[in-house]
Amino acid sequence: MNGIYEEVLERLKGVRNLAELDALKAEYLGRKGKIKVLFDELKNLPIEERKERGRILNEIREKVERAFEEKREELLDVVEIFDPTIPGKPYFGVGVKHPIFIVAEKILDILESMGFDIQDAPEVEEELYNFEMLNIPKYHPARDMQQTLYLNKGKLLRTHTSPFQIRYMLKNKPPLKAATFGKVFRADDFDATHSPVFHQIEGLAVDRNIGIGDLKWVIEKIVEKLFGEGTKVKFTPSYFPFTEPSMEVHVFYKGRWLEMLGCGMIHPNVLRNVGIDPDEWTGYAFGIGVERFAMVKYGIEDIRMFYENDKRFLEIFKGIL
Ligand code: DAH
Repeated sequence: MNGIYEEVLERLKGVRNLAELDALKAEYLGRKGKIKVLFDELKNLPIEERKERGRILNEIREKVERAFEEKREELLDVVEIFDPTIPGKPYFGVGVKHPIFIVAEKILDILESMGFDIQDAPEVEEELYNFEMLNIPKYHPARDMQQTLYLNKGKLLRTHTSPFQIRYMLKNKPPLKAATFGKVFRADDFDATHSPVFHQIEGLAVDRNIGIGDLKWVIEKIVEKLFGEGTKVKFTPSYFPFTEPSMEVHVFYKGRWLEMLGCGMIHPNVLRNVGIDPDEWTGYAFGIGVERFAMVKYGIEDIRMFYENDKRFLEIFKGIL
């Protein structure tokens, strides 16, 4: 009789599930269990001794029952943690998708569905790729348009995502179709409409017989997806050193024409710079300011709101995917 409680505790340590627990419980507390047998033996004892041992045995039985209960609860807890069939709890905590990423993802999704190869590109860029090879030589006035943050040894923080065009065309032979998304940097003011860091999406395609019509189709699809079917789009002449002709795209939204992005046919000099023969191949390129799209789409008046991480602002976008 002595030691039976300790024996139970020892054996409970090895129990790993409810079935094993029930089996062990029957062995001790069942109708023919060890404790029952001890109770049965009491009747052979003299009355005084029977009383004393009966009291002790009752105490032992209670302790053993409690030990089984505790083990059962422990096992149920474990089952709850590890049951892979229990559905996950939806999480509506502090995290929401940032509007910049909501817009970028929408645009990248369309591009990907059209066969564009989506790739990353470095933020620290060669001056050569950011300017020269994009047909923007030193002292070219176009460099003034982009307040460059220079680093050492011919490196700089890219002022636009256009150097991706150079990188991609140096690595890949035409026909090609690719896009990238990321931060760009300019030594600019930080006010309602300017930020020294903002985001762009760059796209390009090079093939035989690619024309402005192909470019317009892609741009129209992007605008449609973001601003709705039937949104009016207008292309007006513009100037960028790396495209010829160059165009600006305007969208009619909420009663106004808004300038949205730059694009054009890749300049023959740019194609030549990466070893592509402009007599055989043509291409288009476009650069989208993601903040610009997000501001127009969601009616945000101050670009700084994107970077302040004010929860009241971010939570507006809860559930928008
Ligand atoms: N890189 C230009 C900028 O940052 C935007 C741009 C314009 C990109 C025309 C293009 C393009 O690819 O064709 O202002």
